[in-house]
Parts: sequence; C-alpha cells; structure tokens
Amino acid sequence: MIRISAYQNQKFNYPIYIISNKQDLVSCVEENIGDFSTTVIFVDSFIKGLDSTNQILKIFSDVLNSLNRRILVCHLEPGKQSKNLNTIEFLANWLLKNNVQRDSLFISIGGGVIGDLIGFLSSIYFRGVSLAHIPTNLISMTDSAIGGKTAVNTSGHVNTLGTYKHPNFTLIYLDFLSSLPQRDFVAGFAEIIKISIIKNQGLFELIQNLSRKNFSNQIELKELESILATSIKYKLDFTDGDIQENNKRLFLNIGHTFGHAIESIQDLNTEEYYRHGEAVSLGLISCISLSDKIFKTHNLTLIKELLSTFNLPTRIPEEYIVKLGLSREVLLDKLVETAMNDKKGKGKKLTIILLNDFYNPVLFKTDEKSIIKEAFKEIL
Ligand SMILES: NC(=O)c1ccc[n+]([C@@H]2O[C@H](COP(=O)([O-])OP(=O)(O)OC[C@H]3O[C@@H](n4cnc5c(N)ncnc54)[C@H](O)[C@@H]3O)[C@@H](O)[C@H]2O)c1
Repeated sequence: MIRISAYQNQKFNYPIYIISNKQDLVSCVEENIGDFSTTVIFVDSFIKGLDSTNQILKIFSDVLNSLNRRILVCHLEPGKQSKNLNTIEFLANWLLKNNVQRDSLFISIGGGVIGDLIGFLSSIYFRGVSLAHIPTNLISMTDSAIGGKTAVNTSGHVNTLGTYKHPNFTLIYLDFLSSLPQRDFVAGFAEIIKISIIKNQGLFELIQNLSRKNFSNQIELKELESILATSIKYKLDFTDGDIQENNKRLFLNIGHTFGHAIESIQDLNTEEYYRHGEAVSLGLISCISLSDKIFKTHNLTLIKELLSTFNLPTRIPEEYIVKLGLSREVLLDKLVETAMNDKKGKGKKLTIILLNDFYNPVLFKTDEKSIIKEAFKEIL
C-alpha cells in the first residue's frame, strides 16, 4: 500500500491510498470510516457488478454494521447525461426522504462524472457534508479525484457550476483497472503524459520505458503503482497553495485550451467521438507545435511519437470531419473561435500554456487568431 499525504501543510490535508490487495483495503476502511451518522455510497451503475465494487461495498458494510452505523447505497448512471442539476435535485430529494443528516459521509465510487457530481453534492447538501472518493478509472485516479474541483454542466456548457471541496480521504483500488476497456485506460494515460512533460525528468523516463513495451492495462502492478503515485504527487505539487488556479495550477492546463475546443465541438447530448484524454492528446500536439515555433525548440517529434505508441490520436481524421458535416476550413475556424472564447482567457487576451522547453511550462498571452490557427493546423 502506498499512502500519500495530500496538502501536508494545509488545514484540509488528507491521505490518498493506492491499494492493490484486499487486506490493505480492510485496514484502510477501518482506519478512515470515522464517526458519521450515515455513510452514503454512490456507485457508478455501470460498474456495480464488478468484483472490486462488491468487495469494497462488503467491507464498508461489514465495518459499519459492526459499529452499528447506517449505510445507504445509491446507484448512479455515469456519463455526461447525469452530470447536471437535475441529478443533484433528484439526489437531494432522495437523501431527504432517507433522512440523511449533515453529519454524514458521502463516498463516490466511479469515474470523473460520479466524482464531480458527488463532490458537488457533498459541498452543498445542508451547506456541506464530509466526502471520500474511490476513483475507478485512470482519469479519475490521476486527475479528477485529485485537486478538489467539483462541477456539473448546464445546458450546452461544461463544468459551469462547481465548487472546491476536498475529501477526508481518497482510496485508489488498482483492481478496478483490470476491467477498464483499453481505450479508456489509454485515454487516462494522456493526462499522465501531460503532467510528465511539465514537471521533471523522472516520470517522463518511466513513461518512455513503458512505451518501449507492449502497453496495456495489464502492465506490471509495481510499475503502475509507481507511475500513478508520481503523477498524483506532481498534481498535488502544482495545486498546493494554488487550489483556485491563479498561478502554478494553470500549468496543468497545458494542451487543454486546444483540447477543450475539440471537446466543445462534440454536442453535449450526443455520444462522444473523443474521450477527454484523447482531446488532451490532440491539444498537446497543437500546443507543442506552437511552442516549437515560438521558442525554437524541437520537441514535437518526440512527443508525437510517444503519444502514438500509446495509440493516442495526433491528428483529426477525415472520417470525423465528415461526421461533423463540416469542411476542414470551417472546422478550423470553429476550433479557433472556440479556443479564443476559452474561459481561462482573462480580459481580451487568451492565456495558454506553452512549453518553453521540457519541464518548463510558461504562460503565453495572445489575442492573435492567426497564432491559434497555426497551432490547430498541426492536427487538421
Ligand atoms: N474535477 C476535476 O478536476 C476533473 C478533472 C478531469 C476531468 N473531470 C471530469 O471527469 C469527467 C470525465 O470522467 P470519466 O471519463 O471518468 O467519465 P465517467 O465517469 O462517465 O466514466 C467513463 C466511463 O468509464 C466507466 N468506468 C469507470 N470505472 C470503470 C472500471 N473500473 N471499469 C470499467 N468501466 C469503468 C464508467 O462507467 C463510464 O462508462 C468529465 O465530466 C470531466 O469534466 C474532472
């Protein structure tokens, strides 16, 4: 078991556990179960039949029953169609009907959607109850469950309403990854690659070593543990002291202005073509190609090759452009327009993150559409 102490010097510090066996799971639950009148566990309905989910629910239920405490379990549909205020209101009514009081613990078991939803709910239900996360896919283990951001979408807009809410603890059970489809595993890996190029050599080298092997979610446990723990520590470093994203946390958005534009083009209500991590991969290519031009560096080939070995996209295929019913030129203009409106652009200028060189991200402000267009051309 690996135990990471998140935000050690802050009032809201808490442990993050990376666990790979059942015995450690039991000790971790016993240690962190707390003294709550009710523990409400919200489970992604898609994974409710998994062995890992059943093991965790049984452990919580055994421990709570032995202490004579109440446990409630609620199943929730994953996916963006659930991440809205209708679900929040439905859940608030369900909690009230079950007489769930303020001295309760809410636990999310699922991917980024369930984590964001339950994080948000826990921060507003009776003005705040305690929270714990059990992220079950790679994107939630490395990204969404770390850093305290919660959110729901509103019609046509992503993450419009949200709060900052830190959990009492986060429990990562690696067994969950064995049921993850390869595509989702790889998409989650894009965020790890992203963080590896902005911090220092260590993680990037671990990833390069992996890329030389036959990569899959069956990679060696020890190797995976080490990559996950390093990536989580890096994210904690970037967010410590800057939870509200005014300064160094912004560096984590490298590739995201471009990636978000790609995601925004896909309708919120239809099936997604690109996973978040895949859009980040394309965003990284745009960003590094622009960085190379501005800082006269030569990093694009290396990063493109690395992303390709993980089967992450490095170019938007013709098939998708046809599916969108747009010409290449119109899509390019739409992407530029969307990126220029990115919420992180303060005032008139857009702030993007570029790579001055490896492990050296910088803020770059621009109001020139032609620069952004140049960056997108690399993937179109
Ligand atoms: N709060 C943050 O800092 C932050 C950061 C990044 C992303 N996000 C949010 O996260 C969301 C995307 O997360 P997501 O991709 O996890 O979405 P998701 O929660 O909908 O999960 C994607 C799919 O993975 C499935 N899944 C989860 N665990 C599994 C497992 N062990 N085995 C098999 N399938 C499993 C889910 O059932 C779902 O079908 C977006 O809403 C995004 O805004 C938040």
